[in-house]
Amino acid sequence: EAAEKAGYEHFMMKEIHEQPKVVGDTINSVVKENFIDLTDIGLSEEDIKKISQMYIVACGSAYHVGIAAQYVIEDLAKIPVRVELGSEFRYRKPLLDKNGLVVVISQSGETADSLAALREAKEKGVRTLGIVNVVGSSIAREADSVFYTLAGPEIAVATTKAYSTQLVATYALAIQFAKVREEISEERYVELIREIKTLPEKIEKILKDKERIQWFASKQVNAHDVFFVGRGIDYAICMEGSLKMKEISYIHSEAYAAGELKHGTISLIEDDILVVGVLTQSELYEKTISNMLECKSRGAYLMGLTTFGRYDIEDTVDFTVYIPKTDPLFATSLAVIPLQLLGYYISVAKGLDVDKPRNLAKSVTVE
Ligand code: G6P
Repeated sequence: EAAEKAGYEHFMMKEIHEQPKVVGDTINSVVKENFIDLTDIGLSEEDIKKISQMYIVACGSAYHVGIAAQYVIEDLAKIPVRVELGSEFRYRKPLLDKNGLVVVISQSGETADSLAALREAKEKGVRTLGIVNVVGSSIAREADSVFYTLAGPEIAVATTKAYSTQLVATYALAIQFAKVREEISEERYVELIREIKTLPEKIEKILKDKERIQWFASKQVNAHDVFFVGRGIDYAICMEGSLKMKEISYIHSEAYAAGELKHGTISLIEDDILVVGVLTQSELYEKTISNMLECKSRGAYLMGLTTFGRYDIEDTVDFTVYIPKTDPLFATSLAVIPLQLLGYYISVAKGLDVDKPRNLAKSVTVE
């Protein structure tokens, strides 16, 4: 097993470090020099033009990919997207448009609820696309089309690299759908392609700064409640950051759309409670900062996660983590990295079983 961990203490850390490589591989599988080719996936231009509505169905972290993807697809391709949990979709008697596309995202390709949702969609005669990591898995076999993420085998129960590859798969779909449906200019298309290709090196850069997160994590081992707040795509990032925290650190945490704080959650803010603000979307920055200030005035300790250049954040927050600039639509791919590291380092500092957290399974094949 030590050999398989390639010198890392845990599989999770190894997999966190594999992200630049596997994200790059997944991008390169469809993104060519200056265009995107989805023919291997089985989606023709005609198919893409026909899509009236997208339904993304997934569980766990893959569901959080769906939430982030919803913003990206609607922004670029202007296709309405609905995101649902597999366990809800299958019992909801969903009304599916016959020209809709059901996208099931699953690392294992075996999650029972996601598979049932796929079958439900097929039964209703709606086209299905799987974004799957495991070749030959049930979802990969049964979906009409498959976009394989190239994360390689993921051992740690808490997903990191599979999540990151799923994200870039959805970006590639969004960009190409936008292009085929003539929703973006040629310049914007080329710019997005250029930018998506820079994500691996930007992730690498964040990983180089991991000791800073480790230091911060060592101060948070006694935390009981952590709140992650953000708006728009930042809210999607919060959901994944919060799940990582719960899964491996056993710290109660909640992801909150920053604007919703005042509708209840703010009553839970007390002295020294950690509030993590995710602020990668500049048009929402001031709004989230003001929500964070409301928490601070009630005693919260603030961590801010934003892009390099936003140094004024230090006037408000107690601890800041900066990520490289990218197109705001791709920010999830960068902002999630420090949050994975935070969950990891707190778990290690608490002496917990990082790779096999209690009560959790890598793949949930029962209801
Ligand atoms: C489990 C794993 C999660 C994963 C979820 C969905 O809960 O612990 O990391 O996100 O299942 O798994 P899937 O294989 O469908 O992506």
